[in-house]
Amino acid sequence: GQDPRIQKISSAIRVIPDFPKPGIMFQDITTLLLDTKAFRDTIDLFVERYKDKDISVVAGIEARGFIFGPPIALAIGAKFVPMRKPNKLPGEVISEEYSLEYGTDKMEMHVGAVEAGERALIIDDLIATGGTLCAAIRLLERVGVHVVECACVIELPELKGRERLGDKPLFVLVNGA
Ligand code: PRP
Repeated sequence: GQDPRIQKISSAIRVIPDFPKPGIMFQDITTLLLDTKAFRDTIDLFVERYKDKDISVVAGIEARGFIFGPPIALAIGAKFVPMRKPNKLPGEVISEEYSLEYGTDKMEMHVGAVEAGERALIIDDLIATGGTLCAAIRLLERVGVHVVECACVIELPELKGRERLGDKPLFVLVNGA
């Protein structure tokens, strides 16, 4: 059966209808952060999965990948690398464009944060269409990093983001609607 911690994590995530616009069921992880047991269990479940996988980089996606990524990185002895929105990182960056519902966005990473041959885990709070994770995978692979897996707290299965990732493994704790 399923790990008994999962149900409590799922219940601690608040769903807010029609945010930020009509028809969207927003998966609000701030309530998970208020529940010290459920937050700790969330981090522990990822740490248990990744601690012996020889991962040297945890790449966290802005904004909520910055909440879950660092405690996982510290616990598994990996460095944390932020994957940011454009024009936020002060050093030299490489960037990758990706498409949104309307228009495009860009993700940036510092040059020199990672080296070819490193093994990375990508962390975000949620996968919807998968476009964001795909951009993060491309950024890391362009500089010769092996992306071992992508991990999210929540997956919205109806949006089929998992298919967009192709054969890149995706690990999630809960499904959202
Ligand atoms: C959300 C979420 C993921 C992304 C997933 O971020 O935190 O990063 O969308 O969507 P996708 O799978 O369709 O690409 P959001 O766009 O709300 O940005 P924010 O974290 O800066 O608020």
